[in-house]
Amino acid sequence: MLNFELKNPTKILFGKGQIDNLNKELPKDAKILMLYGGGSIKKNGIYEQVKNALHGFEVVEFGGIPANPEYEVLLQALKVIKAEKITYLLAVGGGSVIDGTKFLSAAALYEGDSPWDILIKSIKTEKGMPFGTVLTLPATASEMNSGAVITRAETQEKFAMGGPGLFPEFSILDPQVVASIPQRQLANGITDAFTHVLEQYMTYPVGGYLQDRFAESIMQTLIEVAPRVIKNPADYEAAANFMWSCTMALNGLIQKGVPGDWAVHMMGHELTALFGIDHARTLAIVAPSHYRFNFEAKKEKLAQYGQRVWGITEGTKDEIAKAAIVKTEEFFHSLDIKTTLSEYTPDFKGTAEKIANRFTDRGWVGLGEHKNLSPANVQEIIEMSY
Ligand code: NZQ
Ligand code: ZN
Repeated sequence: MLNFELKNPTKILFGKGQIDNLNKELPKDAKILMLYGGGSIKKNGIYEQVKNALHGFEVVEFGGIPANPEYEVLLQALKVIKAEKITYLLAVGGGSVIDGTKFLSAAALYEGDSPWDILIKSIKTEKGMPFGTVLTLPATASEMNSGAVITRAETQEKFAMGGPGLFPEFSILDPQVVASIPQRQLANGITDAFTHVLEQYMTYPVGGYLQDRFAESIMQTLIEVAPRVIKNPADYEAAANFMWSCTMALNGLIQKGVPGDWAVHMMGHELTALFGIDHARTLAIVAPSHYRFNFEAKKEKLAQYGQRVWGITEGTKDEIAKAAIVKTEEFFHSLDIKTTLSEYTPDFKGTAEKIANRFTDRGWVGLGEHKNLSPANVQEIIEMSY
């Protein structure tokens, strides 16, 4: 097992009716900016629930944060924060709204010239404006981690940011919100969370027995509840397990003491930036090719995953490892998630080279758990994903 440090300060309020407890978590004298997305919360009753819980507080609203939170829109919110002398941020939404709020938390206290530098210069935020979240979509675990991903449509770029100052102070997770989520977003959430576990597990063995079993149990739980959640998102028990699995998949715990890969996400973010493909779907496009390309380096863990998660018992280690990749693809297909780029866009030719060139320009020349995947390798993996 590798050395590690673990600190996660986010308080979780999980379960039915927890939105009513929102007012207990907020400082009484706060001037709050409530941030939300394109309006789903106004249709499913979450907006009213939150507003009722905010009774007595001074609240300004900013709606319209799009999926893949857009830098230009967030700059408008930043103006509101400054003009209204906001002291506390409240995100009500999925990963996009929460990530956008994290960017604002950082930008509100940033003293440099342009907040874009936080993204392109990878500036770690040690202290941000305090914020809490009401999660409406299980997927990213942004509700319990300190990372965010921000998009700039103008330049077709998507960059990650973060830092110890960007954990939410609290997050409210009421699985009843799952009932109103459309099929496409449910499938995305399951796929994203599943791939988060893969990124932290599908590397090489380091004797992290407990971490491996944490990871396997999250994947097993997602596999078990996926058909139930898709069939009936109002199934509370399935929704609760789905929601907590997503949070546990990327709240930092399973990453401790083990290597991380994250190359699938690095490549996937480019596909969202270039084509607007949903985040989770980009992962399903890249992951199978990534595991086939890096088969020798990853086959110990692929075989362990095949045996423990998919129950494959027949065959040699190589055969089990290969079958595990096929099982993963079949799982994505069972959610109606397509796994090749050409199924999403007719303009896929040249994409691999373009992404490889971008990585070269940015100096991203050593990806993956061994930091040895070159832009040429990236090009091959993406070509395999066409
Ligand atoms: O905008 P509204 O109208 O609210 O609709 C949203 C949006 O269209 C809708 N939705 C959310 N909750 C709903 C609902 N519709 C009905 N009922 C509800 N209860 O769902 C749509 C997608 O929302 P979004 O927040 O974009 O989805 P998700 O949570 O999958 O977030 C994706 C973003 O998170 C980033 C991705 O790159 C992407 O930008 N990620 C963030 C990570 C992190 N911070 O740790 C890690 C991830 O790997 C990921 O990169
Ligand atoms: Zn993800």
